[in-house]
Amino acid sequence: MSDHDHHERHSEHAHSHHGAVAHAPSAGASEAYRRAFESARPDPGRSVIRVDLEAREVEWHVAPEGSFTAWGFNGQLPGPTIEGQVGDVLEVHFTNRLSEATTIHWHGLRIPAPMDGTDMMQQPVAPGATFIYRFRLPDPGTFWYHPHMNEPVQMERGMYGALVVRGDDEPVLDGEQVLVFDDLRLDRKGQLARFGGLFQWHDGREGDTRLINGKCEPDLAIAAGQIERWRIVNASSARYVRLSIGGVPFRILGTDVGLIEAPVQASEVLLAPSDRVELAVGPFEEGESLAIESLAYWRTTFKRRKTEPFGTLHVGPAKPSAAKIPARLRTIAPLTTAAATPTRTVDFGIKYSLTRGMEFVVNQETHHQDAPVKVGELQVWDVVNSTMMDHPFHLHGFAFQVLSVDGKTPEWVSWEDVVNLPPKSTTRIAWMPDDRPGSWMYHCHILEHHAAGMMAHFDVVR
Ligand code: C2O
Ligand code: CU
Repeated sequence: MSDHDHHERHSEHAHSHHGAVAHAPSAGASEAYRRAFESARPDPGRSVIRVDLEAREVEWHVAPEGSFTAWGFNGQLPGPTIEGQVGDVLEVHFTNRLSEATTIHWHGLRIPAPMDGTDMMQQPVAPGATFIYRFRLPDPGTFWYHPHMNEPVQMERGMYGALVVRGDDEPVLDGEQVLVFDDLRLDRKGQLARFGGLFQWHDGREGDTRLINGKCEPDLAIAAGQIERWRIVNASSARYVRLSIGGVPFRILGTDVGLIEAPVQASEVLLAPSDRVELAVGPFEEGESLAIESLAYWRTTFKRRKTEPFGTLHVGPAKPSAAKIPARLRTIAPLTTAAATPTRTVDFGIKYSLTRGMEFVVNQETHHQDAPVKVGELQVWDVVNSTMMDHPFHLHGFAFQVLSVDGKTPEWVSWEDVVNLPPKSTTRIAWMPDDRPGSWMYHCHILEHHAAGMMAHFDVVR
């Protein structure tokens, strides 16, 4: 993989349609950053993990037929998987070698606001500049990182990576795979198709090149008789992955922010954009091969998705298994019950405007400014989807529990940072603002909807 000679193509991705409103960090932001930086200390016995990340151009050999110039972290697509233990401090020295400004958002991590990577809390990292993110890893789970500027373009071009945080008491499996799903919209020449247009704005950008870990429909391997832990991230801009592995049952061990209370057997699981799931996969018989696919799913877009392949799992010669999956994985104390009185209503909707036609809004506004929440005051939000399409609701920096969906209590308790909002539905969630004041946000994780303004800012105040 060579890294030179791509500047002649530079101009074709210099233009980007950034629909987002520009925000600026407040005057106190650099002081808040300094305090967050200094207060990040590892727990006793844990350490500081230093990672150097550089965003730069790289050739993406998606398929044998060709490649195109992508943007990646450290020349890798996806970026390097960062691993740590709860209580470690992650210190990321980030350098931007791209032609446009960017930031990094640590999706799902409950870290201080100045490290969250949004443009209300930090200055964008300009081309050539460096920024240090430093925070303690608070929770075990499967997380990921991605830019928080011009996301429809920067993330489609390859800027994302997984982040795995281990706890002290993890279930024992025979192996682990971190699988980051994505899709790309390529043109006939195998180059990234143009950005923008009505379809992409309405549906979100989906493509017919389906990837796992940056490879088009790859072959994966597992030993017969073994049970592996698969940590899966859906890094797509807009595609919902209704995951099936040969149609055979697997066990769901965890969701966005760590393990659930007990394994749940299923033969499919839905990952909205930015969702994660942890599965126990196997055991299988030698010689089997299983289709890793996304089953048909229609989220009321122009295009309906049929069942489509993402890869194939091949079962090799048998190896002994030492997997021990306890019947009880952890205890999650419910924050409250579905009968709790909501403290606010958040409405994901569309609005017709004379100037712009249809707009994606929250509480009737693009880039909504929502009321502050107070540290220590339990939040019970009714998140309404008043549109006919699905939208993945993502809350930055805090994990929530889903109390009910249209009045129905979910089958298990979990910690989430994203939940799919089905068309015309109300999802009641609960979360506790712990003492991390600052400016936060929630938004639709279909990147084009987020960029179009289906998002809100709010402050956490003491
Ligand atoms: Cu992964 Cu603001 O999002
Ligand atoms: Cu949306």
